[in-house]
Amino acid sequence: MTDLLELDGLRVSAGSREIVHGVDLSIPAGQTIAVVGESGSGKSLSMLAVMGLLSPPLRVTGGTVRLAGRELTGLPERGMRAIRGSEVAMVYQDPMTSLNPLMRVGDQVVEAMTAHGVAKAEATRRMLELLARVGIPDPKRTARAYPHEFSGGMRQRVMIACALAMRPRLLIADEPTTALDVTIQQQILALVDELRRELGMTTIWVTHDLGVVARLVDRVAVMYAGHVVEDAPVRQVFAAPQHPYTARLLAALPDPTDDTRPPLAQIRDGRPPRARSPAARSGHGARRPATSAPPAHRSSREPSPVRTLRAGSHAGCRRPSGGHDAARDQPDQAVPGTRRGRRGPRSQRRLVGAG
Ligand SMILES: Nc1ncnc2c1ncn2[C@@H]1O[C@H](COP(=O)(O)OP(=O)(O)O)[C@@H](O)[C@H]1O
Ligand SMILES: [Mg+2]
Repeated sequence: MTDLLELDGLRVSAGSREIVHGVDLSIPAGQTIAVVGESGSGKSLSMLAVMGLLSPPLRVTGGTVRLAGRELTGLPERGMRAIRGSEVAMVYQDPMTSLNPLMRVGDQVVEAMTAHGVAKAEATRRMLELLARVGIPDPKRTARAYPHEFSGGMRQRVMIACALAMRPRLLIADEPTTALDVTIQQQILALVDELRRELGMTTIWVTHDLGVVARLVDRVAVMYAGHVVEDAPVRQVFAAPQHPYTARLLAALPDPTDDTRPPLAQIRDGRPPRARSPAARSGHGARRPATSAPPAHRSSREPSPVRTLRAGSHAGCRRPSGGHDAARDQPDQAVPGTRRGRRGPRSQRRLVGAG
């Protein structure tokens, strides 16, 4: 059987500058995968290419996208519009850019269905069910609110309702919780994961922070500078990352797939242990520092082509034109997963409210 989504040598350029350099990615129906990589590695552009949502100067300059065997690249906008929202849907990082600020939230969910031929009355009935399902209280009343009256978490729930209204086969969640605070983030992740199970959706979690979604996925594809540099089952990625960039990415994370980790030490005689470092004081003492990549990967200076490691996984070393391995030369603050700088002024601007 063919995979549900197949990217074959996908290239995306902005004008004459190529940004995504030939991405191959095949996702079988029912699989949940994380596409992970630092900011700017080309994750979102690859996914927008799948959705047919690149706008000039961005465009697909090579390769193909197939959904359930059907070629999407080159499909006219009309054809794409029929597929978008019904067969494949995307939840974006910032709901404010994808929700219409001038339209009541209920109407936006209704429109997600009427756009695909569902009758208005039926769409309205389903909208109220959907709002309740995604955890929005008192749907009859709240459906009449505008997006700015909602907190970030509530807006994200509305966007999830829009995305799932037509029960798509493929859901792409592109950093859907990055702008939210940690508690709300967990609620939204759990909600999407629950709905994924209910609807049997194939799901792509796009993130710069693998730690956030590692427990939810079967497989991880690591993107670096417009390439997929590693693609393997999640346990294997944590147990033995093959690419030095992947190792750096994981260095700051505890292994969430490791069931054998010892439990947190008990506090003895009622006193907490003495803090030794700022990391320990802030409660992040359990994390390995980002600077300590596993020694095995310190020596991987030689270039290597992308190679098949075992069925279903591959990795390779990418060398930018400068001839050195840029993954090694990134300053530590550029390594995702360190959580440094994640809570910018933007998250502080968010309205406070129930998730
Ligand atoms: N509209 C645009 N015009 C030109 N370049 C863009 C545009 N959008 C993104 N890019 C470039 O593409 C790179 C990859 O972007 P993106 O796919 O959004 O990265 P991410 O992995 O963070 O999702 C960015 O670093 C940026 O330089
Ligand atoms: Mg992105």
